[in-house]
Parts: sequence; C-alpha cells; structure tokens
Amino acid sequence: MFQEIIIPIIYLLSAVFFILGLKQLSHPRTAFKGNTTAAIGMLMAIIGTVIKTEIVSYDLIIIGLIVGGAVGVVFAKRVEMTSMPQLVALFNGFGGLSSLLVATAEVYKGSLPATFTLSTISLSILIGSITFSGSLVAFAKLQGLMRGSPLAFKGTQIFNGLLILAVIVMTVFSILNPDQLFDYFLWIIIFSLVIGYYFVVPIGGADMPVVIALLNSFSGLAAAATGFVIQNDALIISGALVGASGIILTNIMCKGMNRTIWNVLFVGIKVSTSTAEGVQKTAKSYEPEDTVVIFENAKQVIIVPGYGMAVAQAQHMCHELEKILEEKSVTVKYAIHPVAGRMPGHMNVLLAEANVAYDKLYDLDQINPEFEQTDVALVIGANDVVNPAARHDKSSPIYGMPILDVDKSQTVFVLKRSMNFGYAGIDNELFYKDNTIMIFGDAKDTVSRLVAELK
Ligand code: TAP
Repeated sequence: MFQEIIIPIIYLLSAVFFILGLKQLSHPRTAFKGNTTAAIGMLMAIIGTVIKTEIVSYDLIIIGLIVGGAVGVVFAKRVEMTSMPQLVALFNGFGGLSSLLVATAEVYKGSLPATFTLSTISLSILIGSITFSGSLVAFAKLQGLMRGSPLAFKGTQIFNGLLILAVIVMTVFSILNPDQLFDYFLWIIIFSLVIGYYFVVPIGGADMPVVIALLNSFSGLAAAATGFVIQNDALIISGALVGASGIILTNIMCKGMNRTIWNVLFVGIKVSTSTAEGVQKTAKSYEPEDTVVIFENAKQVIIVPGYGMAVAQAQHMCHELEKILEEKSVTVKYAIHPVAGRMPGHMNVLLAEANVAYDKLYDLDQINPEFEQTDVALVIGANDVVNPAARHDKSSPIYGMPILDVDKSQTVFVLKRSMNFGYAGIDNELFYKDNTIMIFGDAKDTVSRLVAELK
C-alpha cells in the first residue's frame, strides 16, 4: 500500500509544487518564492524516490547528496553573473549525463528489457548524450576554451542525420538480436555523443545562449524519456515541464532577435565588420562632468542597460544615479530589451540585485512610445538593442529586430569604452547622430563620476 499509494501521492504533490513554482517564476516579484516552491517540490520528489524499497544501499546516495550539494553551493556562490550562461550549460550537461547513465544502467542490469523499454532507453541515451556532449561544447565555447566562431565542415548536418539513422537502425537490431544488446548500445552511446558534438560545434559562440536554452529543453526531454524507462512519474512530469519551458524560452529569445531557431542552428548570424566606404563619420564625446547640466534640467531620464553594464557590474551605481536624479525631481525609468545582455532576464536579475524597484522596469512595447517625450536616454553598455539600422537597413544582419527607440529622445548619452561593435559585430549609426553624445570609459567608473558630480 505504501509503494502503490503514498509514493504516487508524494510525486503528484511534487508535480503540483513544480507547476506552482513555474507560475511564480514568471514574474520578478514572485520569482524568489517560485524558486523556493520548486525546490520544495524537488525535495518531495527526492524523498519519494529514496523511500522506495528498490533502494539497495543508502551509502552511495548520501555521499552523492553531500558531494553534489557541496559542488552546487560552491558554484552558485562563486560564479560571476557574466559567467551564468556557462554554468547553466554545465548543469544542462550534467542533467543529460544523468539520463544517459540511468538509461544505460537499465541495459546492463541483466534482465532483458521489453521492446517498448528498449526504444525508450535508446531515446533517453540519444537525447541525454546530445545534451551532454553538446553542453560541454557550449561551455567550452563560452569559456573561450574552444574557438567561438562556427567550426563546421561541409555536410555536418547530413553527417549528423546519418548518425541519427544509425542510432535508429542499432535500436531495431538490438530488439531483433537481444544476444548482442550490449554491443549495439555501446554504438548507440558513441554515435549519440558524436551527434551532440557536431550539433553544437558549427554554431557560433555568440549564439550559444539560444543553444543553451534549447539544450535545457533537451535535458528535460531526456529526463522524461528516462522516466518512461524506469517508470517514474515524477521524472516524466518534471522532465516534460523542463522540456516545454526550455522550448518556450528558446522561442522568446529567437523572437527578441528576430531570428528563427532554424537560422540560429543551421545558418548562423551574418557578421559584417565593414562600414560604408568613403563615408567620414564622427561621433561627439563628452566627459561625464560635462553632462551634469543636461541631467539637472531633465524631467525624464530613461536608463537603457545592456551587456556592458553586466561586464562593468555597474548596476549598483545605476541605482545610486537613479536615487540622486529622483531627489532632483527627475523621473527615472529603465527600458529593458528582451535580449539585452547575454541571457534571458539578464538585466532584470542585475537590477533586482541592486534593489531597483520592479515598477521602474519597462518592457520594449511599454517604453518605446515614451522616448519622444524623454529628455535624456542614458544607454549603459548597450549597443545592438539600440541600433536604429534594425528599423530601416535591409542589408543589416539585425534588420527587423525590435529595438529601443532611444534616438527619438532629446539627448542620448552612450556609455561604453570605445567605438567597438557589440554582439552582432556591426557599427551603430546611433553613435553618429546629432543628438547622441558618447561618454567613453568603463560604465561603472563613468556612472560613479556622474553620481559624484551630481552630488
Ligand atoms: P551588445 O550589443 O553586445 O553591446 C555591448 C556593448 O557593451 C559593447 O559594444 C561594448 O562596447 C560595451 N561594453 C562592454 N564592456 C563594457 C564596460 N566595462 N563598460 C562599458 N561598456 C562596455 O549588447 P546589448 O546591446 O545588450 O545587446 C545584446 C546582444 O546579444 C544582442 O545582439 C542580442 O541579440 C545578443 N544575444 C542576447 C541574448 C540574450 S537572451 N540576452 C542571447 C543571445 C544573443 P566597448 O567594448 O566599446 O565597451
């Protein structure tokens, strides 16, 4: 009765907590609670699993919990915000590896699995291995251990397609010739790991955040497939939830960049590093101290953070600036582009860390109509997400990407260290506009100098 009734109820409750957690995670105000709710769900799922009578020895489980928990805490405490995509890539990879190991253990357990189970084992190994080796490549690219630019050979996609076919054939053979089960599955594992490697290797380092979201979804699907293998309801439900949320996130990221998932995975971003020949372009630049009068006379200032704010860790200083301006009766708002930075919600997380109130953060659609009535748009380390070329230049690789219309403000201050390009590798016509003033330097130093001067 314990096995048949209590454990399924614990699993069901854990699934309810996962779904509630996801709902809460969808808004910044409740996101922290959402994390806790989902963690309680996970704790329930773990308890449900360890009290199952199938467990032979608790020693290894306890060692695993201690070692895994310690590694998790150290990673979470030490990782820099800018290295978060790498960390997520590694975690996805470990998820894929777990599914791969659990499914493989079922093959080598001794008793011959049924045909349906063999197919789900094969699926679990395939998706788990792709997630594992693909995530390691994504990690290596983001960490600079591997060349970030696309490394494909002609026909990579066909090669991968043939390998997938080989996995299917091996699975059929393993069902028809159970005597050679182990050999077939060894090949399935090898082929699947190679597919993961060649799936991610051709994709440019810059597109890795999207790939990581997709691999996250894969890790969920692998877990769900493993759930069918070992008939664990909690794994099936949680895997399906991860799979679905990963796909939704991937879609949101692609939409924010005006690209399709097909384009990200198989075409890549067109990087153009040339500027129009023969056109002499000049950008004005000021020192932070020269801008104070403009800020003091402004009624509304919109701060536009981008990847450079994350690199400079300027979020706390931005909050200081916001407080000082408000003391001077200036209205301050933050404009958040959906793909500013390098991961979803990057800017929201950083600004929340600096205690910026959520109601000061505005989405692209909400804030764009306001720029025309805004005195100062303060662009802090953002580049592509404010490039007006996206609106009209059909030859631009970012053409069609929705952008923040900062150029419509009375004055635009752009804080960055040089005239270097952003992620898309293209020049930004905003920098040369009459109403734009560049303020060169590290964003944190520049905002600190601005704050000091306004004080
Ligand atoms: P970017 O276009 O990448 O530009 C960031 C700018 O920050 C750079 O031009 C750089 O110029 C400046 N910068 C770097 N370090 C700085 C520092 N310490 N102080 C001041 N400035 C600094 O950033 P964005 O506007 O946020 O756009 C994001 C890009 O990433 C988009 O193209 C988007 O499609 C892409 N992307 C985003 C995501 C997600 S989910 N967020 C995922 C994949 C791709 P200097 O070197 O001159 O300082």
